Amino acid sequence: MDHQKVLVLDFGGQYNQLIARRVRDLGVYCDLKPCDMSAMEIEKYAPIGIIFTGGPNSVYDENAPRIPPQILRLGIPVLGICYGAQLIAYTLGGKVVRAAKSEYGKRDVSFVRQSPLSEDIPVRSVCWMSHTDLVTELPAGFGTLANTESCPVAAFGDPVRKIYGVQFHPEVAHTEYGNGMLRNFLYRVCGARGDWTMRNFVEEQIAALREKIKDGRVLCAMSGGVDSAVAATLVHWAVGDRLVCVFVDHGLHRKNEPEEVMSVFRDGLGMNLVKADAAEEFLGALEGISDPEQKRRVIGEMFIRVFEREAKKIGKVDFLVQGTIYPDVIESGKGKSAVIKSHHNVGGLPDVVDFREIVEPLRDLFKDEVRRVGAELGLPDRIIWRQPCPGPALAIRIMGDVTREKLAIVRDADAIFREEIARAGLEREIWQYFAVLTDSKTVGVQGDFRTYENVIALRAITSVDAMTADWARIPFDVLERVSNRITNEVKHANRVVYDITSKPPSTIEWE
Ligand code: XMP
Repeated sequence: MDHQKVLVLDFGGQYNQLIARRVRDLGVYCDLKPCDMSAMEIEKYAPIGIIFTGGPNSVYDENAPRIPPQILRLGIPVLGICYGAQLIAYTLGGKVVRAAKSEYGKRDVSFVRQSPLSEDIPVRSVCWMSHTDLVTELPAGFGTLANTESCPVAAFGDPVRKIYGVQFHPEVAHTEYGNGMLRNFLYRVCGARGDWTMRNFVEEQIAALREKIKDGRVLCAMSGGVDSAVAATLVHWAVGDRLVCVFVDHGLHRKNEPEEVMSVFRDGLGMNLVKADAAEEFLGALEGISDPEQKRRVIGEMFIRVFEREAKKIGKVDFLVQGTIYPDVIESGKGKSAVIKSHHNVGGLPDVVDFREIVEPLRDLFKDEVRRVGAELGLPDRIIWRQPCPGPALAIRIMGDVTREKLAIVRDADAIFREEIARAGLEREIWQYFAVLTDSKTVGVQGDFRTYENVIALRAITSVDAMTADWARIPFDVLERVSNRITNEVKHANRVVYDITSKPPSTIEWE
């Protein structure tokens, strides 16, 4: 693929992936890379432009990430954002100082000088600021482009070297014309052509997959989730029947999920899709186990065992498809975080399947791009917009041990919650929503009789990347309908509670 490329150097700020997504949305391919890339590596990568992200440091911190000045002499256009802007000023001999007060929030920014960056942007507009340090003196050759009441240099640049810095964050939605400024940088400063579109991607990927796979055989573990569905569909378009997909029915899925996967992919798309019915085995292996981590471990191991068995039936394959996406492969500028839960993402499959090579057709894509590719390939909205479901599925939404009876309760309650969210038109606003079967029983009164039954908890969150989340402010009348329906229609449930904790301190799933 010889697309034009932009390099986003990650200095550890919280909006870094957002910057990369914005650039791609503007039709230019970009990669997010750690900030210690050398000038030589950058030259070899050959970007049409470089963006330095924000970051938590001050340029004067002892361990602050810095850059070799050669990077600014490569003749490649540069845009520094927040810390990235301060770093440009500092590296080239300007002055950065610590302000008495941090500036945080929306500010009126005035452009005071014409530049390609502010073309078609109003002279005065609202921008999002979040900083303590600020640039007070510019290096030789640079001019102030914009200011705010408390920030004398809100944007600066040198049109000759094509190096620019902005103290505010153009990537966040609160910056009214941020997208326009990024577009200006890409198209007016870097000379972008806009050759990154999902249609191009699909055409190129299908050609590349055909070239790679030739007449080989391919195997894919299909979970029904967006990533594996889109990856499998791409490969199916490329090589048709030479792709065999296996869907493991572990008996822990949400209501109607296995049927839907079979109907969309086997009946609809004509995919060579095998369903492995393994509910009995999974439930047997889970019997009496109530520790969350142990449940996850057992399910992960069982999944691999069942898949291995199915793969043996299929015989030798040449390739294994995985739905890895870009956020899974980004090496961030920050350190690795602690393991809170052992996620089960079919990670162990490569060890048990006999194959030559892994195929990861979505490795370069962000989630929103995966969805757009899915739409290009004609997948239905209910697959493309399916909310994420953890590998262990309902097993970690039942507190304590997993039984058929408990699965029936949580499955029915969950289906009602999903129906009502869809009816209220809230599906795309709420990132994830589901029912949990707690291990509490409470007293109730139903039809004049005392009951002593289970408590269902509803969890609904808004999020961007599942790293942090807030509880969704679902209208009370929707919650009321869900609660009425669950207590009326689901056997063995007499109380419904709503989870109002954010992540952190809670996690999204209860286990
Ligand atoms: P937590 O509960 O850690 O969840 O806040 C973050 C996101 O990850 C999903 N999740 C999983 N996904 N395998 C997965 O593929 C798993 O084992 C798993 N556990 C949690 C969770 O649904 C949420 O979207």
